[in-house]
Amino acid sequence: MKKCARRAVIAGNWKMNMTPSTTVKAVEDTVKLTAGADCDVVLCVPFVDIVPAVKAAEGSHVKIGAQNVHYEAKGAFTGEISADMLKEVGAEYVIIGHSERRQYFGETDTTVNLRTKAALDAGLKVILCVGELLEERKSGVTAEIISMQTKLDLAYVPADELKNVIIAYEPVWAIGTGLTATAEQADEACGIIRGVIETLYSKEAAEAITIQYGGSMNDGNAAELLEKVNVDGGLIGGASLVPEKFAKIVEAASK
Ligand code: PGA
Repeated sequence: MKKCARRAVIAGNWKMNMTPSTTVKAVEDTVKLTAGADCDVVLCVPFVDIVPAVKAAEGSHVKIGAQNVHYEAKGAFTGEISADMLKEVGAEYVIIGHSERRQYFGETDTTVNLRTKAALDAGLKVILCVGELLEERKSGVTAEIISMQTKLDLAYVPADELKNVIIAYEPVWAIGTGLTATAEQADEACGIIRGVIETLYSKEAAEAITIQYGGSMNDGNAAELLEKVNVDGGLIGGASLVPEKFAKIVEAASK
């Protein structure tokens, strides 16, 4: 049963997987297998896979995104990719602040905020990731951590840009570990984030914003998680690499 007015968004995060040649089949299969989707479907792919992915998804319901973006428009930033570059090759979405970027590449809330603003200015839709570490959950500070991240990451993002922001609640301990937050934990955390949006913006903004859960979501547990009132979709890592599994998650979100 559809639980509310918000349309679910199921986004795949391929991480550092797939080459341009394997991308084509994976996108084509995803397009075919999710043909009946009654939710938004996005695949966030490595930079070099964007062009073939956009071509393979052309004219379909599947949208393509990137996994990071730099905050400067251009210049001496070796190895970085700008928002305009992503737009020009047909990316519509970009993941920002994924915990792997925060953990391994020194991403901070300050740079996440800068990237978010640059992506929105360029007309990209942002999937902004927040989430607590295991020690933080054990210490009982999950609410504080995800509230703080949401506030800092959205600083100076105006209310009229929020329609282009999706927040992904991704408890770091659940990412790629096979450990999933319980549906209750996911719902509670997504609800806390929604409350922060209400404080920062308005009740209407809080009711409208899409908040996903991410962290070992798969074809077996998606339905239970997506049934929760505050969980408006999923950011899927491992299971998005297998179109059949990903399609089952899309199906669960479409019910
Ligand atoms: P996972 O990754 O589904 O493999 O846990 C989720 C993510 O990192 O976005």
